[in-house]
Amino acid sequence: MASRAGWFRGPSLLLALLLLGTVLGLYKLSRSPLVNQYGVLQDYLESNRPETESLATGTRSILLWSEFFGDPRWSLPGDTLGTQDFRDELKCPVYQCELTNNHDFLPSLDMYDAIVFHVAEPFPFLESVPSRRRPQQTYVFATMESPGETKHQLSNEQNFYNLTMTYRLDSDIVWPYDHFIDKETQAIVAPKRQPNWRKPPISGWNDTQVWNLWPGKTKMVTWFVSHCPTLSKREDLAKALQAYIEVDIYGKCGPLSCKRGDPRCEEMLDTDYKFYLAFENSLCTDYVTEKLFGVLHRNIIPIVFGGVDYARFLPPHSYIDANQFDTVELLAAHLEFVASNVEEYMSYFWWREYYELATFSPFCELCEHLHRPGGRHRMQVYNDIEAWWFNSCRFKTHIQFAASQTRD
Ligand SMILES: *[C@@H]1O[C@H](CO)[C@@H](O)[C@H](O)[C@H]1NC(C)=O
Ligand SMILES: *[C@@H]1O[C@H](CO)[C@@H](O)[C@H](O)[C@H]1NC(C)=O
Repeated sequence: MASRAGWFRGPSLLLALLLLGTVLGLYKLSRSPLVNQYGVLQDYLESNRPETESLATGTRSILLWSEFFGDPRWSLPGDTLGTQDFRDELKCPVYQCELTNNHDFLPSLDMYDAIVFHVAEPFPFLESVPSRRRPQQTYVFATMESPGETKHQLSNEQNFYNLTMTYRLDSDIVWPYDHFIDKETQAIVAPKRQPNWRKPPISGWNDTQVWNLWPGKTKMVTWFVSHCPTLSKREDLAKALQAYIEVDIYGKCGPLSCKRGDPRCEEMLDTDYKFYLAFENSLCTDYVTEKLFGVLHRNIIPIVFGGVDYARFLPPHSYIDANQFDTVELLAAHLEFVASNVEEYMSYFWWREYYELATFSPFCELCEHLHRPGGRHRMQVYNDIEAWWFNSCRFKTHIQFAASQTRD
């Protein structure tokens, strides 16, 4: 009997310990965030549900009210795009939209879900704005140009636009010229307010293309420019730089010319020059133009100048930002240093191993926005669009380069 009892006591002790262990374990589990994985997963699934499920059904319709610098199609593949075009041509993840520049596509103007106005040009003389407006309709303020190029009396357009679609990263629909995507994951890395860039290698980067071009790159800086006096005074900065190093200016604003459309003009960036001036015509938040992205396809280092935090747009150590120098002399000295050292020069091209440029249509994001759950009922309007738009530019620069500036 005793042995039987002992036999019982052993396991019951074990059982009790096990029970205690389980209770403790459960207690711990219930307090640990792990147990909430279920909730996390559910939230995740909810937010990543295939769009067809999570979106309210129905195709949204978008009207392009005006032309885009003479192009009624805004560079899109047709005058009218259906859902298939949104899916197959624009490659939009949310594609249940149709878009047209034909005002008579729907029987009445107040039937469109969104009307997009290009504000870098005046409203058309006839049909300046729709005469009737449905409260659920979204009017979109769209432009790629800087505030200095907005050809509208915005003080007359308060309480008019519901959405902004511009290059500014705080727009409702962000419309940048180009994106950086990670080659490995295909994820969009930039532009973003705080992109998560890889760290550039510390030393010893070798780029075969640049290595092979190096012996021919005997000239310093070049610039192709046709818009001369600017708000940013970039022409003065370029001139100041010429006091220290060779800057060859092609186009309307310089003594040199290269026939427009001749591929040799662009090839010189690869074969002859070490640096390109990617200077913006105005100093406005997030305002970078296609010139910069064009140069990134070439084997040349861009020297940038704008009102931009370039870390939002470009990989670190892929450009030289003039505004990070106190004086033109210091900028020139840095250029001399990079130009005199092939290894230093090549290190500016490290990013090409990891990132590539890609363009996405802003109309994908607009389509998605129009489908956002509750989006149809969530009303918003810019009651002071002028303040929103104009407050993003400035005249002051960090680098000193004008005669009036160097005095203080
Ligand atoms: C870079 O690579 C090339 C071959 O692609 C080689 O000839 C050259 O020596 C390398 N340069 C440096 C600095 O390592
Ligand atoms: C857009 O703004 C107008 C004017 O304030 C307003 O009547 C309308 O309801 C707004 N629409 C949306 C979708 O927010």
